[in-house]
Amino acid sequence: MNGFYSIAIDGPSGAGKSSQARAIAKKFGFIYVDTGAIYRTVGLAAYRRGIDRKDENAIFALLPELDIRMAYDENGVQCMYLNGEDVSKDIRMPEISICASDVSAHGKVRAYLLDMQRKMARENNVVMDGRDIGTVVLPDAELKIFLTASAEARARRRLLEHQSKGIDISFEEVLADIQYRDQQDSSRDAAPLAQAEDAYLVDCSETDFDETFDVLCRLITDKLAIDPEN
Ligand code: DC
Repeated sequence: MNGFYSIAIDGPSGAGKSSQARAIAKKFGFIYVDTGAIYRTVGLAAYRRGIDRKDENAIFALLPELDIRMAYDENGVQCMYLNGEDVSKDIRMPEISICASDVSAHGKVRAYLLDMQRKMARENNVVMDGRDIGTVVLPDAELKIFLTASAEARARRRLLEHQSKGIDISFEEVLADIQYRDQQDSSRDAAPLAQAEDAYLVDCSETDFDETFDVLCRLITDKLAIDPEN
């Protein structure tokens, strides 16, 4: 341990990792690092410039032109800046999810973004969510959780989220997006979505937010022996 605690939460798209991680960060006084937002920011830049997202060298060549920064507002909400512009909303558009998944499949892109993620954990108590946090980014994390749910349960929840933001999309489209990303995120060569050997598996297909949150908080207090701040 480097003086700070790290909690790694990995799992497929739409399992509720971000909302759980955000709530954990608030309760235990940690910083929440949403690593998917970093890949989404790269995906957005490629989309805007019309670059072929499957072309690893083209995406890699784009990276030095991107000034990607994470910042936290007064409520502890992570905001993403791309060359000085706040793109926190733009990166959540459904078409950018696919772009993010495409650019994240490239090993060179992942290697380039690794240090940014590790630096956050060197300097803060973090709860970090993604696909490869327990396996690659923070293999020494004090607690690793693999949070999953069936594709249908995840699509149902994602649909409600989109609807609450006024995004017009059908259940079938959301499910297809989730299945595309599951397949691509788990089958790529570079740091695929995988459960670390020492991660605790939590399946939340049948549990609501609060029930899942209770399970995660119990793991944290038991395994890390730390108490909530709030
Ligand atoms: O968590 P998310 O849906 O915002 O992530 C967007 C995409 O980024 C996802 O399809 C896979 C990729 N990703 C990744 O490859 N590794 C991470 N640590 C986080 C996200």
